[in-house]
Amino acid sequence: MLGLRGAGMYARRMTPPVRKPKFIVYFIGFTAALAGLLFGLDVGVISGAQSFIQTEFKISNDIIQYVVSALLWGAVAGTLISGFLSSRFGRRKTILISAIIFIVGSLLCAFAHSEHWLIAARFLLGIAVGVASFTAPLYLSEISPQVIRGSMISMYQLMITIGIVLAFLSDTWLASYATFGGVTGGHWRIMLGVIAIPAAVMFLGVLFLPESPRWLFLKGFKERGIAVFTRMHLDDAQIASEVKEIEDSLLVKQSGFQMLLTNRNFARAIGLGVGLQIIQQLTGINVIMYYAPRIFQIAGFETTIQQMWGTVIVGVTNVLATFIAIAFVDRLGRKPIMYAGFVVMGSAMITVGILFNIGVEKDPSLGYPAMFALLLFIIGFAMSAGPIIWVICSEVYPLAGRDLGVTFSTATNWVANAIVGQTFLTLLMTLGNGNTFLLYGALNVLFIVFFLLFVPETKGVSLEKIESNLLSGLPLRKIGR
Ligand code: BGC
Repeated sequence: MLGLRGAGMYARRMTPPVRKPKFIVYFIGFTAALAGLLFGLDVGVISGAQSFIQTEFKISNDIIQYVVSALLWGAVAGTLISGFLSSRFGRRKTILISAIIFIVGSLLCAFAHSEHWLIAARFLLGIAVGVASFTAPLYLSEISPQVIRGSMISMYQLMITIGIVLAFLSDTWLASYATFGGVTGGHWRIMLGVIAIPAAVMFLGVLFLPESPRWLFLKGFKERGIAVFTRMHLDDAQIASEVKEIEDSLLVKQSGFQMLLTNRNFARAIGLGVGLQIIQQLTGINVIMYYAPRIFQIAGFETTIQQMWGTVIVGVTNVLATFIAIAFVDRLGRKPIMYAGFVVMGSAMITVGILFNIGVEKDPSLGYPAMFALLLFIIGFAMSAGPIIWVICSEVYPLAGRDLGVTFSTATNWVANAIVGQTFLTLLMTLGNGNTFLLYGALNVLFIVFFLLFVPETKGVSLEKIESNLLSGLPLRKIGR
């Protein structure tokens, strides 16, 4: 997810110094990674809340799709303004701004008295998600000492999946068990509003964080940048090596737009990043993230409690399978894991499609196999496309165009995400339950061809080598050699 968004950019430049970092470094990592948690919470929360929202406002499936996807369109807008905000005000202030929008947006959702209000509030919240999901990994990649950069970035990715599962758990409790004002269950306003609390924690935590040293250097505050490293208890040799890395990278001026117009090879890299992000979303992952309880209903799990616990199991599986990617991405390489993941996802979606076409009404014993296939799909995604597409997108752009490249691919991710969120119920109604999953299954199989033809293996290759291969005109599939 992430999280490696733009962050791999400095990841493999220099030999890591050996000294272990201090507590403050982990505090920095944890606080900034809270942005990932919030991202996950906001993505996950809507699945459990939507049936209650639909009942209270008496709205159609069409309108519910807007409630779901308003956040995603907001995230597109948020991503597009983040480059400007984080360069103008600094990374730290930009994360603070996003925390304020998170708090306000969550409260506005909780007090919404009409579906229009709710859609507008979710759009606002989406802006916070877009800004945070762009700026926090950037901040992490800029401030982490080299020795722990990889794990800091993976932590951000993991926080997203943990956020999703926490939202599923809190939804389950509020949907079925919690009693407020004599009413048990169905508390969708609390589901949405409670996210203001972690947002406030993030705001307070970020108040104590230092600014990104790289941004300080960029703005000419070299002394302040070095003071940040001293505050992080880095020794002189580490500071010298961080300073050299920053100064070297600042020698390359960002000239993305100009490069895009004049350099065909850069345009090819953008095409690759954009294509990969569209693929990540068209796997259908977020159909499950946003609509899991409904899917369990189609699979014959009729009570709210069954549907909600099924959703929690989806979330937990998503977290656990992310560790497979973390463990193997640098050992086996990106492509073998991607092939394995897409074969699993394709077969699992096709199985769900076939089972739904047979119909659980006719044969109720099909419910558990369908649930099993859905979980297999989640494993396939979390071990491959989930994290690795973000990794590849952070590796394939030449340094001078990296900011623009990452902005493009991240914005594409949100646009495709919004389209998926906004069309699922319509697809169910027009194609039918089974055929909708068959369609996603077929797409997953088709994407394997894209990997064969266009995707490079980037394991163990320096970013400089990838860049020189790309700019020399090698086919995309070979730029990792
Ligand atoms: C995707 C998100 C998705 C999440 C699920 C991320 O990599 O970009 O759209 O919701 O994975 O874990």
